[in-house]
Amino acid sequence: MAEERDLLDSYFAASEDRQRLLRTTKPSDARGRVLLKPLIPVRYRGTGRVILTDLVRPRERRKARLAAGQREVRLHLGCGGEPKTGWVNIDLLGDPVDVAWNLASPLPFDSGSVAAIFHEHLLEHLPLRAGDVFMQECYRVLGPGGILRVGVPDAGKLIRSYAGDQSYLNDLHPGRPTALLAVQELFYWHRHCAMFDAETLGLLFRASGFPDPRPREFGDTDLDQAPDTEHRRAETLYMEARKPASRS
Ligand SMILES: C[S@@+](CC[C@H](N)C(=O)[O-])C[C@H]1O[C@@H](n2cnc3c(N)ncnc32)[C@H](O)[C@@H]1O
Repeated sequence: MAEERDLLDSYFAASEDRQRLLRTTKPSDARGRVLLKPLIPVRYRGTGRVILTDLVRPRERRKARLAAGQREVRLHLGCGGEPKTGWVNIDLLGDPVDVAWNLASPLPFDSGSVAAIFHEHLLEHLPLRAGDVFMQECYRVLGPGGILRVGVPDAGKLIRSYAGDQSYLNDLHPGRPTALLAVQELFYWHRHCAMFDAETLGLLFRASGFPDPRPREFGDTDLDQAPDTEHRRAETLYMEARKPASRS
């Protein structure tokens, strides 16, 4: 029993270290975020960023209008600390964005006005219903033939691994006292609100109007260049679809 106590205690200590690391200031954080982070308790930070972002909505809408004036507009939504060159990078205030926007509200772009949309490890941060509305917004703002590429943590693969030989799960989350604790981290940590496998993500795509979403490998895309982030490779399910010329 003492052994189990030690095992669990060291798991809690390691988990807290991992969480603390995630909460520290990143080099990509905007100056205001660096200043505010130590002053605001962790549990209020997400809500605080949403409120501040909503407050600057008129200014950011103007920036979105300017960005929409470019040819072949491509949106990178929920960019976090991974902005992409050649994309309009959008997230909450505090990240290195071109436009700060709360993505749980309608996108500040006209219907049919953008050529491509990419989001990676964003959808699981929105409650399922909000995620569904957001996917419909992606469909709305894409022009005919426009491409939506989405990456999410691959919950299906993790669960299959849990029920199988557990090697993928152990590679991704080594050293957890039990395999279920690793699965649990994916579902409950990082402010995750919804989880996806290919069937569930495909359902959201189709329900939003995309007739033929397909799972794609890391780097495999119909875009001229895959925007996928290297450190997301092992854990991510990518899916891509094209908006048809007219709704079927
Ligand atoms: C796990 S990070 C992913 C960042 C980046 N795409 C990556 O793969 O590293 C999730 C991002 O979603 C953003 N996010 C969550 N809810 C949001 C919302 N309502 N509006 C805008 N961005 C949001 C967070 O600010 C955060 O940057």
